[in-house]
Amino acid sequence: MKNFRTNRLTAERLNESHLADLVALHLDAEVSRYLGGVRTPKVTKTYLDTNMAHWDQHGFGLWTLRTKDGVFAGRAGLRHILVDDVDEIEILYALKREFWGQGFASEIAAAMTDVGLSHLKLPSLIGIVNVANGASRRALEKANYLLERSTIRKGEEVVIYRIRR
Ligand SMILES: CC(C)(COP(=O)(O)OP(=O)(O)OC[C@H]1O[C@@H](n2cnc3c(N)ncnc32)[C@H](O)[C@@H]1OP(=O)(O)O)[C@@H](O)C(=O)NCCC(=O)NCCS
Repeated sequence: MKNFRTNRLTAERLNESHLADLVALHLDAEVSRYLGGVRTPKVTKTYLDTNMAHWDQHGFGLWTLRTKDGVFAGRAGLRHILVDDVDEIEILYALKREFWGQGFASEIAAAMTDVGLSHLKLPSLIGIVNVANGASRRALEKANYLLERSTIRKGEEVVIYRIRR
């Protein structure tokens, strides 16, 4: 599903024209706090290339999010990830700071979960969240993900949530 809409957001398949918005998003230290820290423009370019290749290979991946009036609001997606050598599909989302606290993460998490389970027929989705990232944990819980376990990933304590079809 290249594009879809929620009540307040449009989601567009990631493409090269999104680079500048992603660079700005990843340079915000608050946004990047639980995402491994700020990323240089060069690192974000590699990130964009990697995630466009994911679309080509798997037919799904990251979307760029905009409000109905076309303002860039963030990025979100479904993506393959190896967790302890097991191939999983993770849900992810990051919003520009001015859009926090208005229910946008909950809205896009619910919509992408529906895309993943109902449209793509994936058997299960996981969310990997820093244990201290309360807003992200709550967004997953509201989308009916269940807490599965905690583990250490890249030196950080994370919790893994899962939802099954
Ligand atoms: C995490 C993030 C996506 C949340 O986005 P958001 O649009 O502000 O989230 P929502 O408004 O949908 O809020 C989700 C829930 O978390 C709650 N919440 C907010 N801050 C919280 C906190 N510190 N602790 C616990 N719950 C919190 C909200 O009240 C809401 O629950 P409610 O609807 O029951 O009131 C946003 O802060 C972000 O982009 N952060 C940077 C990137 C990131 O960390 N992404 C997730 C990586 S796993």
